[in-house]
Amino acid sequence: MAQILIFLGPPGAGKGTQARVVAKALGIPHISTGDILREAARKKTGLGLVAKAKMDKGELVPDDVISPIVEERLGWADCKAGAILDGFPRTVVQAQFLDDMLERAGFGKPLVLNIHVATDSVIKRLTGRRTCQTCGEIYNVYMNPPRQDGVCDKDGGKLTQRADDNEEAIRIRLKAYEHDTVPLIEYYQRKNALRQVDGTEEPEAITERLLGVVKTDDYL
Ligand code: AP5
Repeated sequence: MAQILIFLGPPGAGKGTQARVVAKALGIPHISTGDILREAARKKTGLGLVAKAKMDKGELVPDDVISPIVEERLGWADCKAGAILDGFPRTVVQAQFLDDMLERAGFGKPLVLNIHVATDSVIKRLTGRRTCQTCGEIYNVYMNPPRQDGVCDKDGGKLTQRADDNEEAIRIRLKAYEHDTVPLIEYYQRKNALRQVDGTEEPEAITERLLGVVKTDDYL
């Protein structure tokens, strides 16, 4: 039965960095709600305009806006063998919606990988993040800089900084995480679906751990 992997963790935990690599290793899609909303904002769709106003301030987009988008995406053929959800759910209401939806759609119980890092250590990660506009590769000007300033090593694409990676928006995102998303840790612990992974090591070591957990849980 196809199973969904959920990557949980505070802003800057490395969810996107890891989800890209792990999804490739497992041959399943990486679904990032942040990326979906940023793409809609770039295209200036109705959703994009609503989302951009919230995202730029660091606030969450309403549950009833984001949940149907995830439901629709999980219905695509490429999710038949599973998928990684990065950035969803991030409220208990979203988690309950997802549980109901997965059951209706015939998926197995999700496996939740909580990448934990101290929230006071993520400011440098987030203010230093740069993302390739073409391929989505993630860099950090302090810890993992590109060879040439502002240019992606992989495809030469332009590296940009996210509008919400400034200290004021980061503080609001961290508050939203503590208030709305931390309760999910207990929510999934009660369902015996949560696995903890230390997010402070080198990215390659974290990938190994994540794949190890997935293997132990018979996901592969
Ligand atoms: P989203 O895009 O999901 O952002 P986030 O949750 O704040 O998470 P980030 O993408 O900032 O962090 P990450 O953990 O992916 O870190 P990364 O791997 O890039 O959401 C953005 C906004 O969209 C929300 O604020 C909200 O408005 C809206 N939204 C999205 N989903 C929603 C939902 N479900 N409900 C409501 N609203 C929603 O790494 C960060 C940096 O650290 C990089 O520079 C990287 O190179 C570096 N790094 C990574 N790993 C390591 C490591 N091991 N050591 C050192 N540096 C590392």
